[in-house]
Amino acid sequence: MLETKLWRGERQEDLEEAAECLLRGELVAFPTETVYGLGADAFNKEASLNIYLAKGRPSDNPLIVHIYDRAQLKQLVVDVPPLAEKAMAVFWPGPLTLVLKKGDSVPSCITGGLSSVAVRMPNHPVALALLKLVNKPIAAPSANQSGKPSPTLACHVWHDLQGKIAGIVDGGPTTVGLESTVLDFTNQVPTILRPGGISSEQLERVLGKVAISTGGDSEAPRAPGMKYTHYAPDAPVQICQGNTEAVVAKIRAGLASASEAVGLLISKETLQALGDIPPKVKVQILGSQNDLAEVASNLFAGLRWLDEQKIDIIYTEAFGREDIGSALMNRLEKAAGVGNQ
Ligand code: TXA
Ligand code: MG
Repeated sequence: MLETKLWRGERQEDLEEAAECLLRGELVAFPTETVYGLGADAFNKEASLNIYLAKGRPSDNPLIVHIYDRAQLKQLVVDVPPLAEKAMAVFWPGPLTLVLKKGDSVPSCITGGLSSVAVRMPNHPVALALLKLVNKPIAAPSANQSGKPSPTLACHVWHDLQGKIAGIVDGGPTTVGLESTVLDFTNQVPTILRPGGISSEQLERVLGKVAISTGGDSEAPRAPGMKYTHYAPDAPVQICQGNTEAVVAKIRAGLASASEAVGLLISKETLQALGDIPPKVKVQILGSQNDLAEVASNLFAGLRWLDEQKIDIIYTEAFGREDIGSALMNRLEKAAGVGNQ
């Protein structure tokens, strides 16, 4: 067991200590605007392999490399196509990860053996300050135990990885709350491999047509991570479809028939329409149906909280799929096991 340190992101001396750990090849979790990442020196093979061990992550699932300055791309990729340049100019720093052809010096253990590498410049002052102090590309997947919701608070990282990593930089709650969009530039048409913090609508306004990978059965999964069961709380999750009235009817029927402990993960509109709820039901409000960014930012913490309540079933509702809603519904459906093999 390691003694996991807890650092404060606003303290320079804490950041310096965290940076020294990274330079020594140790693992450090840090906040980004999407979720907390578990960082290691991307060029230190042993450190990167330790990420997989700490998370319990399958070794064919590649990591995202984080940078603070576009000049660092030279160390990572062979060339940057014009559309990728455009995407970086508009969306970096921000929740967009670019998949590009990798340079020879990038260890294949961080790319899961692929000939491409995923790169992102996070939009978080603490992440950028830490990356600058280290001045090396940092490989960082989400800092959760593999299969758990990504961490949006330092205490989530502590819960999953305490004793396994050198330390955690606390930067408070992350703002976006869902992971970055992974956009592949290794084909003619940029292709979304994972929906995330930048929507397909936003991308198309800047880049023109983008494709969305469905990852079909016959082809090799394009974002290897998407094939694994993700974000699964201990209790089964049931997504109630339809307007507020329909959702309320389904939840009421569930409450009436359930002998089990029930959890609700719902909007404030649904809560209001439900009226009286038995006191033993555990309720987590995600926000307003009209503010999908708010709902997205609360989703993972809500799933984790419900997990701690030792309930038998979680009822939630379908949200709109516009803008961030597409990524939100993707994560909710994964939590519910929809589309998992
Ligand atoms: O917002 C985020 O992206 C967070 C923060 C910490 O930056 N990171 C994150 O990393 O979500 P992770 O490892 O949990 O998810 C990375 C995803 C996986 O689905 C992985 O398969 C995909 O990106 N990926 C990484 N490298 C790839 C590559 N070369 N080609 C295709 N997919 C790749
Ligand atoms: Mg992850």
